[in-house]
Amino acid sequence: MNAPLIDPFQRAITYLRVSVTDRCDFRCVYCMSENMTFLPKKELLTLEELDRMCSTFVGLGVKKLRITGGEPLVRREILSFFRSMGRHLETGDLEELTLTTNGSQLEKYAQDLADAGVRRINVSLDTLDEQKFADITRWGRLPQVLRGIDAAQKAGLRVKINAVALKGFNEVELPTITQWCAQRDMDLTWIEVMPMGDIGNENRLGQYWSLKDVRAAYTQSYTVTDLDERTGGPARYVRLEETGQKIGFITPLSHNFCESCNRVRITCTGEIYMCLGQEDMADLRPPLRNFPDTNAPLEEAIRAAIALKPKGHDFDYSRQSLDGQMSRHMSHTGG
Ligand code: GTP
Ligand code: 5AD
Ligand code: SF4
Repeated sequence: MNAPLIDPFQRAITYLRVSVTDRCDFRCVYCMSENMTFLPKKELLTLEELDRMCSTFVGLGVKKLRITGGEPLVRREILSFFRSMGRHLETGDLEELTLTTNGSQLEKYAQDLADAGVRRINVSLDTLDEQKFADITRWGRLPQVLRGIDAAQKAGLRVKINAVALKGFNEVELPTITQWCAQRDMDLTWIEVMPMGDIGNENRLGQYWSLKDVRAAYTQSYTVTDLDERTGGPARYVRLEETGQKIGFITPLSHNFCESCNRVRITCTGEIYMCLGQEDMADLRPPLRNFPDTNAPLEEAIRAAIALKPKGHDFDYSRQSLDGQMSRHMSHTGG
């Protein structure tokens, strides 16, 4: 029996987020600069290597696998990787296979994802206004994403919408986005904007809309009940009594949730990041690539990395400056 992965703060690591590409077909202003340099393709783990990596983690007790990017669905042949991971769902070793996507390719892939065993997906969508959508994603087009969401629901996938809360941008849309999610029976989670990566001339502090204020905005129109429910993820939930809807808040800035962190991240080049908000990492590609016939060195390297998982991130805007800023982009570690 393999001992489970437990970090120095007694947190069991059962959730792996894997970035399969750093590329994206959008250029969201809070995530990327307009002219990004991406990694040469040969740096990426091959799909076979990704499979071995993920399967090794499943062997070490990971129950939930979330595929991220960049935009995971722009990686060539990514469907074959999903299909292959489906085998761990069939054995019951893996409880959930899922992805976080910008929705641009869902019209094409939703049914195939459902067939591969995906049941639930998270779609990033910050506005329902076509012009604003084009402005914030630079390269994205709203109708394409809406068609993707339709296709996902038609394929029976449960959809959660992730909206980054941005001051002066989607503040006014809180009621519209909320009602739209209720009508379509989709969960909604708001995320505080985090200081990740150089984003050109955009002003992070100006973007920051504390979710304490978002919650207060809800209380003006709804009866808001706090829920105790925890999914192991960073979101805290409330129920809007008038609609019965559940709204999540991911508050890395205004409320730290690291004490219950159950996850680590793998980049598309095979580095393991023990925390989204810290630089601590280890390169798992050498033990993976240099030992094609045995997983023992990889397992050892994974355990050594988990033993160094930090207590939490240091993001902080409270001194009116960007403390805890990370130089790497969100698309590198996959959000
Ligand atoms: P579920 O609970 O399974 O729906 O997943 P999730 O909400 O963890 O996944 P999702 O990909 O929707 O995450 C939404 C966003 O939350 C991420 O893109 C990050 O911005 C943020 N987030 C997720 N995990 C962490 C974490 O460990 N630390 C921090 N600071 N932010 C996180
Ligand atoms: N802060 C908060 N969320 C971000 N995302 C991307 N960059 C940031 C940031 N700097 C979100 C996307 C998507 C998820 C993968 O991460 O909107 O929902
Ligand atoms: Fe692409 Fe997501 Fe970053 Fe937007 S937030 S540029 S969709 S990876």
